[in-house]
Amino acid sequence: MPIQIVRNDITRMRVDAIVNAANESLLGGGGVDGAIHKAAGPELLKECRTLGGCRTGDAKLTRGYNLPCKYVIHTVGPVWREGSARESSLLYSCYWCSLRLAAQQGCESVAFPLISAGAYGCPKEKALQVAMRAIGDFLMKSDMLVYIVVYDRESYHLSGKLFADVSQFVDDRYVEEHTDFRREQIRMTAAAPMPTAAYNEYASFSADGFLEECECAPQASLSLEDALNQIDESFSQMVLRLIDEKGMKDSTCYKRANIDRKHFSKIRGDVFYKPKKTTAVAIAIALELTLDQTRDLLMKAGLALSRSSKFDIIIEYCLLHGIYDIHQVNQLLFDFDQVTLGVGA
Ligand code: APR
Repeated sequence: MPIQIVRNDITRMRVDAIVNAANESLLGGGGVDGAIHKAAGPELLKECRTLGGCRTGDAKLTRGYNLPCKYVIHTVGPVWREGSARESSLLYSCYWCSLRLAAQQGCESVAFPLISAGAYGCPKEKALQVAMRAIGDFLMKSDMLVYIVVYDRESYHLSGKLFADVSQFVDDRYVEEHTDFRREQIRMTAAAPMPTAAYNEYASFSADGFLEECECAPQASLSLEDALNQIDESFSQMVLRLIDEKGMKDSTCYKRANIDRKHFSKIRGDVFYKPKKTTAVAIAIALELTLDQTRDLLMKAGLALSRSSKFDIIIEYCLLHGIYDIHQVNQLLFDFDQVTLGVGA
């Protein structure tokens, strides 16, 4: 199942379990620890007192009490010491142990804050990178919906250094597109009479057979029945063909696309399945298609990449720069307030 990055207060997440960035005493503190204890009520602390603390990198489970979740999983991240004291492996272990506990409890959805990214001083980019790696590894073998909850519009960008580069790329194309579009609008309104003239001109061409040679021209002489018999492969057929050509398993494709098995079965089960753009693009990323191949795939679903949408321009950037890690693409989309790829969309 997939990973979704959301902007929220973790104490409001309606999931089976939320994870608390606690300290080894498990007796509460500030930051997300303080917020969770405050929202859960005094019973939470009472139960925590019975747990006898928790080692860094490990996790322990309690009930959720007044929170809108069944369980709270308390994990203790490492204090960041410039990466010199196995912090990354301890942080990885926080996510792994928390997910293992959640799976043992039969949880289907879990929400994490960015462990150690606050008082414990871990750089946000690093904290997110370890989180994505650990959660991604765990979800290769398990079906669970995992949220990474970013608390507010903090002064950092999840996508880190990439953000500036993509920002420039978007500005260049987005402005260009809108300038062209404006120029085009002016030209059209000042243009010659309406398409009738243009159409008559087209009709006269086709009359003397000129257009018949143009493979791009609509085959006026083709009957509807012939045209329907020449129908191209569908979106689903192209996806399944590419999976076979790349020697992939279905499960590898949909996990890389950050979509769940149920959703992918619709693609496999329906030749004429029409995906949403986020699904079609997620699959293109999972299959590591080029920009042109992606355009072909989208066209099978009646979709296209345009330059009048930041989402499309960011996808174009990723494809041109070989960024095929769906979670990295989603961090970029998240930073630009765009809809993210995959999940059950
Ligand atoms: N919802 C989601 N995320 C939150 C919330 C919230 N309500 N409050 C804070 N965060 C984010 C912070 O912005 C940060 O990115 O959680 C991340 C972790 O920050 P901390 O809570 O400071 O946790 P951590 O860095 O792991 O330090 C743990 O701080 O609160 C004490 O008792 C805790 O000693 C422990 C230490």
